Amino acid sequence: MKIGVLASGSGSNLQTLIDQLHYDESCEIEISVVISDRKKAYALTRAKKAGIPSYVVKARDFPDRHAFDERISELLDTHAVELIVLAGFMKLLQPAFVQKYRNRILNIHPALLPAFPGAHPVADTLAYGAKVSGVTVHFVDEGMDTGPIIAQKSVPVFDNDDEDSLHARLQVEEHKLYLTVIKWYAENRISFAGRKVIVKGSE
Ligand code: GRF
Repeated sequence: MKIGVLASGSGSNLQTLIDQLHYDESCEIEISVVISDRKKAYALTRAKKAGIPSYVVKARDFPDRHAFDERISELLDTHAVELIVLAGFMKLLQPAFVQKYRNRILNIHPALLPAFPGAHPVADTLAYGAKVSGVTVHFVDEGMDTGPIIAQKSVPVFDNDDEDSLHARLQVEEHKLYLTVIKWYAENRISFAGRKVIVKGSE
């Protein structure tokens, strides 16, 4: 199965996928392309080091968001991507894109959705005073962090946590959970009962 990773930042989730999938020759999941909307994203360096084709697609180079999404879609299709993996991709994909790839786009979010959606979940968690946070892997729908939830893992919040310390603890779980869910998808174990996601054999 070919996956395409979209990332805007450091790309630590991408790195886990590179380490666990790309360098495992027996693995049937291939990272066929990495796309970033930011030229300086370290995710691009990680892709280059691993010899994975990578592209910069900047929103401001296009007349509108639809044209931006179309360019991303074109690259994904050129690289025969079957599953799109958002790993810290900071642009909201437009409804036409989501509809084209319905149930073929995954996102990871550093909070237990539906709590703390949006761009600053870790800061929001701390500001609210929550005692438990966690990570969520979900399908992407037209909303902001509103798609069907596939898997979640809780992480404690400590009194002396700041954004960096909590995010670091969350990322340890992100890296494990994303890999697990991508493997479930590749093994065809994911199905739907309405909005609810069922994972065969995970009970
Ligand atoms: C992760 O915390 C992810 O959940 C969020 O953005 C962050 C990306 O981190 N959507 P990285 O670039 O993979 O290190």
